Amino acid sequence: MIAFTGAYHGMSAGAAGVSASPGMRTGVPVESQPVVRMPFSCNETNGQEVLKTVSDLVDDPKSGIELPAAVIIEPIQGEGGVNVAPDGFYTALYEFATQRSIIVIADEIQCGVGHSGNMWASEYADVVPDILVMSKALGGSLPLAVIAYAERLDTWPPGAHTGTFRGTTLAMAAGAATLRVIEEDQLVSRAAATGSQFKDRLSRLVERGLAADVRGRGLMLGINAGTGERAGRVRDSAFTAGLMLETGGRNGEIVRRLPPLNTTDADFDLAGSILEQSFSDCGQCPEPSWPTGSEC
Ligand SMILES: Cc1ncc(COP(=O)(O)O)c(C=O)c1O
Repeated sequence: MIAFTGAYHGMSAGAAGVSASPGMRTGVPVESQPVVRMPFSCNETNGQEVLKTVSDLVDDPKSGIELPAAVIIEPIQGEGGVNVAPDGFYTALYEFATQRSIIVIADEIQCGVGHSGNMWASEYADVVPDILVMSKALGGSLPLAVIAYAERLDTWPPGAHTGTFRGTTLAMAAGAATLRVIEEDQLVSRAAATGSQFKDRLSRLVERGLAADVRGRGLMLGINAGTGERAGRVRDSAFTAGLMLETGGRNGEIVRRLPPLNTTDADFDLAGSILEQSFSDCGQCPEPSWPTGSEC
């Protein structure tokens, strides 16, 4: 497998193996599958350089690595710190993989279902992954995970992948209804429009020296609070004021949340005010503890 730095794909053995956080890998037999780790870059030029190094490795018959079966990528990393894969890089990665019969797996568990301002974040790079992993928003808050894959990969005989909770009808019905409402209410274009307005508003925190950068697409936004310690204080202050946030990034320095696609304008306004107050209560932003936005 090829997997990225900063990645989070889950806590089962296989998923932890391609994830990057040491805390999530501890005690799990992650070494059971070999992983070529590729630095995730939010910078187009750096990304292409890294891809060149990886393709040199993969194409070298004496590099010491075997041809990877698949590459797994979050088109926008969530836990890693709301890091957007540059479109040109993602397209080039797809072409590199496809030319070598390496399967491209897009993990859109966080960035999918409209949150990026497109139904799927992969659409920004015109990538149609061989495998698309979806969950979270898909179930409209009921537990639902779906893996869609290209027909040629459909090699399992019926019943080969069963489980007690798989295909739970209530969650399936909720998922179908969620997708219908998203389409009928045009919530993806709304996410793009409100996300862009919200990002503009949050960018004023940077102008005021209260944040290092604002990153993300659509409604999947992150604000760099500089350090994990400060981000934690912002989160706690916002929680007291009624807004739940989480933190992500290398040192927990990115304040973020994935709001429901149908959040009202009034609630966005309230969330914006709470964020502004919480950031300003925590003083000026220190030098960021990890490279900012486009330099990541
Ligand atoms: C991007 C991403 N991939 C994978 C997962 C793992 O999903 P699950 O917890 O359903 O295994 C998560 C969960 O937070 C996630 O955010």
